Amino acid sequence: CRVLVLISGNGSNLQAIIDHAQPKASFEVVGVISNKTDAYGLVRAREADINCTCVIATPGENRAAYDDRLRAAIDSYQPDLLVLAGFMRILSDDLVTAYQGRMINVHPSLLPKFTGLNTHQRAIDAGEQEHGASVHFVIPQLDAGPVILQAKVPVFEDDSAELLAERVHEQEHAIYPLVVKWFADNRLKMVNNQAYLDGEPL
Ligand code: GRF
Repeated sequence: CRVLVLISGNGSNLQAIIDHAQPKASFEVVGVISNKTDAYGLVRAREADINCTCVIATPGENRAAYDDRLRAAIDSYQPDLLVLAGFMRILSDDLVTAYQGRMINVHPSLLPKFTGLNTHQRAIDAGEQEHGASVHFVIPQLDAGPVILQAKVPVFEDDSAELLAERVHEQEHAIYPLVVKWFADNRLKMVNNQAYLDGEPL
């Protein structure tokens, strides 16, 4: 399974996926695309001998024009699976639809709670006792695609957003490679906005 990872920053989830792509694994990270030239994930990719492409938005460029260029870069890798790993741009419906059922994302909350940004502080402010991460299929509505796998962490009294984020990140690194492996092993499908593992609805 040819896996293409889209990043904007640190790339710690990219690293977790690279670390699981052993020679005997059913998937290979064939490329990394970043919308930022200074994303640390690019360093990680190069260290692992993975091809990288930067697709940088030009001043005044609209989303459709950017996404056309992004789409061309994505298609050039002929990926079987697109993995969004901290890619901080909203993708146009056309692009999402073109890869529907073959595009996944990790979001730092227990979806459907806390879509969008600043999820850790918002979970603390809401008095949640549990928080976590969700891997989901990507559909045109933001953070609304069917959830595949979640991992929970406790929220402690006097927790800080930073400490909570660390706890959540650790879980992301465990669950994201597992979902990539499920997909690569042909165990995971999305039909009518429902995720299935081994034919069973999730
Ligand atoms: C993660 O917290 C993920 O949930 C969110 O962006 C962050 C990416 O972190 N979508 P990294 O770049 O993988 O370290």
